[in-house]
Amino acid sequence: MLNSAPKRMLILDDEPFFREVLADVFSAQGFTVSIASGIEAARVLIRRTPFDIALLDNHLPDGDGLSLVPDLLGSSESVKILLLTAFPSYENAVQALKSGIHDYLSKPVEVEEVRHAVERLLHTTELEKVEEVQKFHAHRESETALIVGSGERFSEIRRLIDRAASVDARVFITGETGTGKSYVAKAIHYASRIAEKPFIGVNCAALPESLIEAELFGAEKGAYTGAHATRKGLFELAEGGTLFLDEVAEMPLQLQSKLLGVLEDRSIRRIGGDVIRSVSVRVMAATNLDPAQAIDAGTFRRDLFYRLNVILIHLPPLRERLDDLAELCRHFISTLAPGHHFELGRGEVERLAQYTFPGNVRELRNIIERCLFLQDGPELFPSRLVFNQPANTPTSNRAPNENESVRLADIERTHILRIFEKGGRNLTATAQTLDISLSTLRRKLTEYGVRTPLPNGPDA
Ligand SMILES: Nc1ncnc2c1ncn2[C@@H]1O[C@H](COP(=O)(O)OP(=O)(O)OP(=O)(O)O)[C@@H](O)[C@H]1O
Ligand SMILES: [Mg+2]
Repeated sequence: MLNSAPKRMLILDDEPFFREVLADVFSAQGFTVSIASGIEAARVLIRRTPFDIALLDNHLPDGDGLSLVPDLLGSSESVKILLLTAFPSYENAVQALKSGIHDYLSKPVEVEEVRHAVERLLHTTELEKVEEVQKFHAHRESETALIVGSGERFSEIRRLIDRAASVDARVFITGETGTGKSYVAKAIHYASRIAEKPFIGVNCAALPESLIEAELFGAEKGAYTGAHATRKGLFELAEGGTLFLDEVAEMPLQLQSKLLGVLEDRSIRRIGGDVIRSVSVRVMAATNLDPAQAIDAGTFRRDLFYRLNVILIHLPPLRERLDDLAELCRHFISTLAPGHHFELGRGEVERLAQYTFPGNVRELRNIIERCLFLQDGPELFPSRLVFNQPANTPTSNRAPNENESVRLADIERTHILRIFEKGGRNLTATAQTLDISLSTLRRKLTEYGVRTPLPNGPDA
């Protein structure tokens, strides 16, 4: 987080699992979290406290989360609102953004995505608050990415990363999801000459065209309905620092040509404005598509790719750099459970190497995290989690939709195990906290490979 003062967060969701997972995650990050399961309860909270950030579900038994937007905006000038919507459609999204929310995610959603979105929103809040963006100093410690991997293939990449950090050239990063593109971009920024200046990331595929345009280039008051005040764009806010254009190959084509113009002239004009402002921003970009294919398909402009691609860094999938597996495991074990001395069980690295890791390094980290919840002694056996998955979750070649449902199941598993461990492995207490029946809990735990005491044992 950017600011050491705790941020106040409101989480509104009627689904207890999801709500608790988010509350856990953000409390652990230092947020002061309030939760509500319905509109009325949330309204009471909002009257009592101004929030810095609100995560709203839009479909609640007693109404629509969006109906709280005026209350939120009225109670705090700087509140950022993130909508978590289960019924995404383009029209709904546009409608929602017009109502004053700042960003939205479609459910099912990964916790990691929510975390990113929150980070992004707060980043902008901080930046908007300072008149002189140059005065901005991030608390960098938490953001300084430690790039792990010294195997043969990754050593090459590491040289490129070092080089990218020592020059100001544009960087284009490719690789499958979870290979570390965003992570590497940040690492380059924080190792570079302009580390003290802002790093701002924006997902170019997440918002409709008109909104990314305003987001990137800014808008003058009255430029469009809803533009109540003049708004600086990210190019201006990132002045002197880095602007990271994530999923750039999925940016609407018309905006791609506008972006190309900006990169060529190094100047921008806000929507509805006349003034041309020169900007000095280092641009990095990433995509998990194959740029050549996207260009052939006509969805990614070739000339834009050439402009962005001065230093190209391709991050290979984890299954193609298995010589880093042991080091990555050790890194995640020591960072996720600092001060403990867990180790991988014998032969674990070899067993893990049999897996395809469709979610790459991110998935490995999640596996290790889950394994730490489950651990029973000083030795960890993450491969059991990988290969003991229920039959309906194949471990390779998943279609994206199936993949999403796997992740939701992962969230559930992590959460159940966390509560179970936190409550001293007490079944009754865990079932109560989770508001599920004892038999359901038992079934789930068995599914995850956890031995549970017998029903008539001291626990049940
Ligand atoms: N080389 C690395 N060393 C240490 N951790 C890493 C490394 N690469 C990735 N990670 C971890 O994996 C996580 C996922 O990486 P990241 O979010 O950068 O992936 P991505 O390629 O941007 O994925 P997506 O395409 O889904 O946005 C990071 O948060 C980080 O914890
Ligand atoms: Mg990313």
